[in-house]
Amino acid sequence: MVDKKRIGILTGGGDCPGLNAVIRAAVKTARGYGWEVIGIRNGFDGLRRVDTMRLSRSKIKGILPIGGTILGSTNQMDPFAVRLGGDVEDQSDLVVENFHSEGLDALITVGGDGTQTIAWKFAQKGIPVIGVPKTIDNDVSATEVTFGFDTAVETATDAIDKLHPTAESHQRVMVVEVMGRTVGWIALHAGIAGGADAILIPEIPFDIDKVCEAVERRYEIERNFAIVVVAEGAKPANDKLDEIHGEKTAMQTPLTARITKYIAEKTGHSVRGMVLGHLQRGGSPTTYDRVLGSRYGAAAVRLIRDGEFNRMVALRGGQIVSVDLHDAIEQLKTVDPACDTVQTARDLGISFGD
Ligand code: F6P
Repeated sequence: MVDKKRIGILTGGGDCPGLNAVIRAAVKTARGYGWEVIGIRNGFDGLRRVDTMRLSRSKIKGILPIGGTILGSTNQMDPFAVRLGGDVEDQSDLVVENFHSEGLDALITVGGDGTQTIAWKFAQKGIPVIGVPKTIDNDVSATEVTFGFDTAVETATDAIDKLHPTAESHQRVMVVEVMGRTVGWIALHAGIAGGADAILIPEIPFDIDKVCEAVERRYEIERNFAIVVVAEGAKPANDKLDEIHGEKTAMQTPLTARITKYIAEKTGHSVRGMVLGHLQRGGSPTTYDRVLGSRYGAAAVRLIRDGEFNRMVALRGGQIVSVDLHDAIEQLKTVDPACDTVQTARDLGISFGD
């Protein structure tokens, strides 16, 4: 017999498909022990304002295939530094007070490194926390995969597939920007899966002239179109994109727009750029993300049952394990330029512009 508990759960940071699968699994698993789960709205802000909802059976009905989060989320709220007008105030003690006055025994924090960093700080203030790693970026180092990544890659690949025929019909170069401010996982995977000719990621600084050469090679073999996949945080290795044909390109001009213009002017081909943006965060989670999210949600509750706190669930070697929350947030998981996936892309003739 396990003692009756009241668990809080929140989703923080940018949303991603699979969050509802985690919530549903946590509620169902907790219910198996006779526990109650309280949903906290809009990340840590819901604990600051005491904006909560009891997650009854009816609240989680039918949410498994739905993207987003029924709890709402924000990436603008750190209770340790709340912006109030022009001032910044530490309201973390208020959150701790509310956690106790709500009668909560433990807190499941579903989020990326930002959310887990805040969670760890609350763990230091005595809140028993379990982290669940989420982000389409797949950049949490302690886990092999975060849920949401698979769906985002699927969406990006589908978009690239759709761009192929129009690129071919018009003998055009399509420059597609995908998400990934600091890591290139989505670009790398969607680029390979979508048959890109060049993939530009933050981890491998690119020379735009090398990208143009890759485009030209395509036209030389009479494949008269090309697809260039750009992670939003891709880094030019030099300043060639700052000035195009003697004209200064404003640094505020988005990278993809500058890449598009440069390729058009250098190669003379017709070039179009597009930014997939938040489309990658939407939609129904893939089966992989539904299963992974469910495994994470159930495992988080089992850790609470076992009294193992201040840990984060993670996927390692195909198994769900738990890791120290602090270790989990210490560094981002970036693409290793020497990894086999990058090498595979190179073997397939994909240029990284280096
Ligand atoms: O971290 C997830 C992510 O989607 C990034 O890939 C992207 O750079 C960022 O969030 C966008 O954040 P926002 O929703 O604030 O525009």
